[in-house]
Amino acid sequence: DWNSGNVIAEQVERIRQQVGTGRVISALSGGVDSAVSTALVHEAVGDQLIAVFVDHGLLRKGEREQVENDYVASTGVKLITVDARETFLEALAGVSDPEQKRKIIGREFIRAFEKVQADLVAEAKAEGEQVRFLVQGTLYPDVVESGGGTGTANIKSHHNVGGLPEDLQFELVEPLRTLFKDEVRAIGRELGLPEAIVGRQPFPGPGLGIRIVGEVTADRLEILREADAIARAELTKAGLDTEIWQCPVVLLADVRSVGVQGDGRTYGHPIVLRPVSSEDAMTADWTRLPYDVLSKISNRITNEVKDVNRVVLDVTSKPPGTIEWE
Ligand code: XMP
Repeated sequence: DWNSGNVIAEQVERIRQQVGTGRVISALSGGVDSAVSTALVHEAVGDQLIAVFVDHGLLRKGEREQVENDYVASTGVKLITVDARETFLEALAGVSDPEQKRKIIGREFIRAFEKVQADLVAEAKAEGEQVRFLVQGTLYPDVVESGGGTGTANIKSHHNVGGLPEDLQFELVEPLRTLFKDEVRAIGRELGLPEAIVGRQPFPGPGLGIRIVGEVTADRLEILREADAIARAELTKAGLDTEIWQCPVVLLADVRSVGVQGDGRTYGHPIVLRPVSSEDAMTADWTRLPYDVLSKISNRITNEVKDVNRVVLDVTSKPPGTIEWE
């Protein structure tokens, strides 16, 4: 029967056989799959592995610290963080179209990753020091959905930050290929990963970039990051994390409405709460959150986040709505 300890031992053995003394690179996103696959490979080959974390500036509050501090502390993995915040903002300037945003974010992610790769190539003195392997957190459902192909880096762009460039000469290491999400979480816990990462709800690769309806700017990201942090904190405090599949928090940056606060008129932006219940994100229903929790979130966001004077609740199922607004 299924036992995370056995699966770890088995995968560690397989990874060692595949990789030998070769060097391996892995992109961490902050999500469960990349965190667990990277930790497994690290368990197998230690410092032959280099993990890369691209901070694209579209992360939620505390996510970079979670990876840089908690994840590194619990795994001992060698981590390179790329601070690409400026680059991403510049590339996204003036862009409001959702698909355009996704394309740009995917492209810039690959560029940032390739730059690290080029640096490693330049540093490698002997042939054996070149990075030959790339870790992918492909799960069993992804394998089934994409027709079971193997060996290529061609994963649906929807589920990854833009997929990976076709000319990348890596052999893939995919230690999660036979596993389901809950099994991946169990393995992550067994490996001692932080609960904040292992238990994390789904979060899209393009991050907060597709939760700002309108152009993405540094100010708007700051507003959304604060509002999102408040909503997440209150949902967690109310014990609702397992009941909710995920709860996108969306900033309607191009909309303003009139409000009143203190003795003054305000003219600020609305924040949308989009709590959904789902089994697999293919369909979803809006979650009937308790009114007192909604009220607490609304009060805190309008009081604590500048330029936000209204909080609205999305009560649309999927279909016809998608989970994300973009
Ligand atoms: P939708 O909005 O299509 O979302 O109902 C379904 C699930 O997919 C996530 N999502 C994405 N994940 N890159 C990702 O990695 C994306 O571009 C992307 N768009 C949506 C979404 O959060 C939900 O879990």
